[in-house]
Amino acid sequence: MKRLNSQLQQDGAPLELILLIRTLLAGCKEISFRVSQGELAGVLGSTLSENVQGETQKKLDVISNQILKDTLSESGYVKAISSEEEDTVVPCNPDGNYLVSFDPLDGSSNTEINSLIGTIFSITHAPQWMKPEDPSAFLQPGTQMVAAGYVLYGPSTMLAMTTGRGTHLYTLDKTHGGFLLTTPNIKVPEDTAEFAINASNQRHWEEPIQEYVSDLIAGTEGPREKDFNMRWVAAMVGDIHRVLCRGGIFAYPFDKRNPKVPGKLRLLYEANPMAFLMEQAGGLGDTGHGRIMEVMPEEIHQRVPVLLGSKNEVEMCKSYYK
Ligand code: AHG
Ligand code: MN
Ligand code: MN
Repeated sequence: MKRLNSQLQQDGAPLELILLIRTLLAGCKEISFRVSQGELAGVLGSTLSENVQGETQKKLDVISNQILKDTLSESGYVKAISSEEEDTVVPCNPDGNYLVSFDPLDGSSNTEINSLIGTIFSITHAPQWMKPEDPSAFLQPGTQMVAAGYVLYGPSTMLAMTTGRGTHLYTLDKTHGGFLLTTPNIKVPEDTAEFAINASNQRHWEEPIQEYVSDLIAGTEGPREKDFNMRWVAAMVGDIHRVLCRGGIFAYPFDKRNPKVPGKLRLLYEANPMAFLMEQAGGLGDTGHGRIMEVMPEEIHQRVPVLLGSKNEVEMCKSYYK
């Protein structure tokens, strides 16, 4: 089976980017190991602290963030980091050529039930003029990403990654510690009969998504004239992995409870990387009002509504917004 390195070379990734990706994944392998130890290593449960977004941090949020921060800042390739678990950007090497944004542990509430969790990341070039502590260079649209992906810590540890030449799936071979290419150029089916949304928020949604989801639930008796099935992992990595593998639509829409917060998921380290992976697999990533990857971020922890997945289903959902 082909190794990650060969695939990255074949896709034309520059050597320094390859080395950066390998460094980042070395950190993810350490997270994978610690996650697999679970209760035995005392890594489960909450801390007493909150992150900048007001969420109580789990021990694994803090541990994963520290592992990635240390690995990336020691590598020399990175000028600065933005992370879900850091208030502001973390300056690294002033001569580093790349910026990395990450959600060190996605789906943290699942740590308590030994269920799916993961790490999501995106990489862009660092402009020469940028000072490492300056957050403004992170405020680029997702179209500027040079690589993005996630590592899913599931029954096997898997990596989905793109450098803009298709989305490939890899599986961690723990016998030698490398990621092996298991599904090259994955393609998301254009049509689907499966959706993922946290329906308990239904009363807070805007009209278009209310109508869209009612039509899905109406099944064969409704305007769609077919039955849909629903799945919700409560970890975006888990839901997006399923959608990449067998199609579907994943939605986390705008919620009227807090008009200042335009969604739950974060643009830089959740929505953008997943949109890049989805588009490279033939799917779509949209806010309902336009392409996720074209949203111009105003701050590093910015949130956006997301619709991700099978092309025709995302288009259908978007049509309710018009
Ligand atoms: P995180 O654990 O990084 O804070 O992200 C959790 C996110 C996302 O992974 C998931 O899809 C969503 O929150 C789950 O939200 P609900 O609590 O509404 O299920
Ligand atoms: Mn997350
Ligand atoms: Mn997280």
